[in-house]
This record gives sequence, structure tokens and C-alpha cells, in this order.
Amino acid sequence: MAIREIRKDGDEILRKKAKEVDVINDRILTLLKDMADTMYEADGVGLAAPQIGVLKKVVVIDAGEGLIELINPRILEQSGEQLYIEGCLSIPGIQGEVKRPQKVVVEALNPKGERVRIEGEGLLAVVLCHELDHLDGVLFKDKVVRFIEKEELE
Ligand code: NI
Repeated sequence: MAIREIRKDGDEILRKKAKEVDVINDRILTLLKDMADTMYEADGVGLAAPQIGVLKKVVVIDAGEGLIELINPRILEQSGEQLYIEGCLSIPGIQGEVKRPQKVVVEALNPKGERVRIEGEGLLAVVLCHELDHLDGVLFKDKVVRFIEKEELE
């Protein structure tokens, strides 16, 4: 088990575009494992590789239905709309409402290199969009329609 340091807002690596993974080798598999360990340790629902300083298109998600590991993910379809209160492990203490699709279909490679399709609705759609944004150097705060004051959440 290896916990990696989560980069915080202000670190320029969070603003860079991640690169496609060409070969799924041991390094990528270790990266996936460390990312899952780091996400669970931090009580997060998703983590993108740039958040631990690696500019690769790799994402891990657990929105309550088990671990999802995605390599080179991209959104194929999106529909509907929802407002969801988001936070981010890279921006501690800040939450805000973001407009996201209600449903998305994402295509990616799994750790075995097989092409998979993930359909996400509700929270899973939000997390998929949030983590894929990280791969483009986009943070949720860029899209916030309303920041939530701490008192509102208590
Ligand atoms: Ni985030």
C-alpha cells in the first residue's frame, strides 16, 4: 500500500493536460493501485493521476458501487442536466454547485487493456465528469455556479 501526496490547488501540474497511456505496464498498474489507496485513505470518491503529480490519463473512482479503474477515458455520450454540490481532494474546504449532465457514457481501457463502457447516472455521472476534467487541467471551481458557505452544509 502506497499513499501518494495529493497536489493542491495552486500547483501548476493540476492545470496541465494529461497524456494518453500507450502501454499498460507494471508502472501503470502500480499507479492505479497507489491512486486507489490514496483515494480511499483521503475518503474521496475519485482521483485523477495529475492530482498525484502524474500527467497520464488514468482515473480511479468509487462512488459507492466499488472501484472503477479507467485508462484513457473519454465521454461518448451525455444527456440531461443536474446541479450537484462538489468538492475536490485538491481544493480542501471548498464546495460548490456545478452543472453536470445527468447521465454520461464513458469509454476507456480497463487495467487488462480491454475496452469498456461505463454508464453513469446521478453521482457517478458527476464523478466521471469531475475526474475527466482533471485530465484536461480543469478544476470544478472553474465551473461552479454557486459556492456553498460552510454554515449551509452544517
Ligand atoms: Ni477533484
